[in-house]
Amino acid sequence: MKKYLVVGNPIEHSLSPKLQNYWLNLNNIEAIYGKLLAYEDDLKELCSRIKKGQLDGLNITVPFKKKIIPHLDVLNGHALRTQSVNTVCLHNGNVTGYNTDIDGFELSVKKLDYDVSNKKIVILGAGGVVPSIIYALKKMNAQQIYLSNRTKEKAQILKNLFESIDVLDWGALPDFDMIINATSLGLKENDKFGIDFSIAGKNKLFFDVIYNPFKTDFSEAGNKQGNIMQNGLNMFLFQAQKAFSIWHNIEPQIDQKVIKFIES
Ligand code: ATR
Repeated sequence: MKKYLVVGNPIEHSLSPKLQNYWLNLNNIEAIYGKLLAYEDDLKELCSRIKKGQLDGLNITVPFKKKIIPHLDVLNGHALRTQSVNTVCLHNGNVTGYNTDIDGFELSVKKLDYDVSNKKIVILGAGGVVPSIIYALKKMNAQQIYLSNRTKEKAQILKNLFESIDVLDWGALPDFDMIINATSLGLKENDKFGIDFSIAGKNKLFFDVIYNPFKTDFSEAGNKQGNIMQNGLNMFLFQAQKAFSIWHNIEPQIDQKVIKFIES
């Protein structure tokens, strides 16, 4: 039986096993998908298991999307350009890293029918998923991208990869159309930003990368002001769909049934 794992720390919140096992059953694929609370030292061993065929695939989540890279043989194009990997498997004998977060983010924004091409966008955070978001936004011709991270140096490092972004101080809010929470703030109950989002005014798109819990400090701020609020569920579903396709060569369906199942 084939074996797949999502690897992260924390990992308890991940709904990947629920979703991937649902699709495996639906498509009659003999495989099992589990979760692993991992530490950086475990990454080498996990990749060596992929190489030996003892494991068939990995999803990589916070905080290992960049840290996994030294243990891989090959990066595909999107992973190379963002230096961020969320999917791993053996391809032509090489332990290969893929990035499906770019497609996940792009497809979820398109599903909202939201045109970013003339929009000013603030991204909060500079962790593992942020290069994918910047890459997708640039691909969709976003007008201006601001980056704000508690540790400013990490935002500045991303500017080396994407020269056109503007780095802000943490907590500083310029005039914007869309704001994205790409921090891990919200994963823990009672996490608070300490940022007054209300100064932004109305008709903004609040996009939270977090999908579990569904309600966060950020999403409450978005909802309160009568703006558009989108959590990370669609991004999660689309990135998972792409990962499933890479592993099994089948595009699984995203329909109301699967959404209901995930939300239940
Ligand atoms: P990593 O930073 O190791 O890639 P990540 O989970 O992908 O891990 O990123 C976590 C993001 O949430 C970071 O942008 C982090 O900010 P720092 O770079 O300053 O650590 C942000 N974050 C986590 N806790 C936070 C908090 N209490 N306040 C503000 N930002 C926070």
